[in-house]
Amino acid sequence: MHKIGILGAGLISRSHAESIRSLDNAVLTAVADIREEAGQRFADEYGCAYYQDADELLKQADVEVVIIALPTFLHGKYVELCAQYGKHVLCEKPVEMTVEATQRMLDQVKEAGIIFMVGQVVRFWSGYTEIKELYESGELGQVHMAFASRCSTLPDWGNEWLLHPEKGAGAICDMHVHDVDFLRDLFGEIDSVYCLANKDHTGCWNHAMSSISFKSGEKAVAEAAFTMSDGYPFTMFFKAAGTKGTVEFTYKAGYNIGERDASTSELRLYQKNRQPVIRKLEQHDPYANQLRYFLSCVDAGEQPARVPHQENLEVIRAIAAIRESAETGEILTLTS
Ligand SMILES: NC(=O)c1ccc[n+]([C@@H]2O[C@H](COP(=O)([O-])OP(=O)(O)OC[C@H]3O[C@@H](n4cnc5c(N)ncnc54)[C@H](O)[C@@H]3O)[C@@H](O)[C@H]2O)c1
Repeated sequence: MHKIGILGAGLISRSHAESIRSLDNAVLTAVADIREEAGQRFADEYGCAYYQDADELLKQADVEVVIIALPTFLHGKYVELCAQYGKHVLCEKPVEMTVEATQRMLDQVKEAGIIFMVGQVVRFWSGYTEIKELYESGELGQVHMAFASRCSTLPDWGNEWLLHPEKGAGAICDMHVHDVDFLRDLFGEIDSVYCLANKDHTGCWNHAMSSISFKSGEKAVAEAAFTMSDGYPFTMFFKAAGTKGTVEFTYKAGYNIGERDASTSELRLYQKNRQPVIRKLEQHDPYANQLRYFLSCVDAGEQPARVPHQENLEVIRAIAAIRESAETGEILTLTS
């Protein structure tokens, strides 16, 4: 039985706590949050110990695995502490705010010998997993253009850090990282990026359109927005047009990503001389899929091949270049 602690009792921590509950080889033993009332309520709801101080949880609680669901700018500090205490870590995306900080983190993880995975949950999300299978099996042929989009209203659940240019950096970092990562997973190394974006009153680029060229020759456009008008549900969309087929995936949550129960999700595949395939997708909890895989890596004592550390670094490098391109208007070639 894997004993798990969660750092942070905010929005996404609930998805993690539910995923732990759904697995029969995991138990939530502790949670930490500086907000005492929210942390204690979370601990009562999930029947685990509460710590106000995350350092104390790492020192004292009965945990082997830690899920870091803290504001992004705190990930580095707590991954370092987890590494010092020898805890395996599943860390929320974006793993860090800069390339240098990500590299430092990965070096610490390597030195400590802990199992470490970034929670790029889209790699475990029905719809995206089918798209990857279709692409890799050749059903789409040569893909000449893909489009990946992720849009919602401005987050309003009190997480001011998310809309601070250095602590969360808004949609261009927090939302874009999902699609840039999935496209990297699909098409391989990124060659160059160009970003057209709007900066709003928060000082963050909260609506971004990035053109991405891959070394393999594939091309894609990715959109990320926190600028949808009131009432617009959290929406993900992906389309890949290939020489043999076109696939389209649409997902709409109830309101924000925390409201997956009210979601609708559909995959369409169009191929020459075949009836279109239109499939409503059942959403098997992607956070549970992600955790199940991560724990299998812990059991095997192996780093996660489905979310390689090197790709985490490349994706943060791409996000940094996209932010720079939004500022300068230049096409930027990525160098490792
Ligand atoms: N994978 C996904 O689908 C997904 C969705 C949303 C958020 N995220 C990521 O998860 C992370 C958390 O996002 P969120 O929306 O849950 O944020 P949130 O603001 O809702 O929750 C963060 C929690 O951390 C607590 N906290 C802050 N500083 C702390 C400290 N020093 N010690 C202990 N607790 C502290 C806050 O009080 C808060 O309860 C971010 O990196 C975000 O990008 C991922």
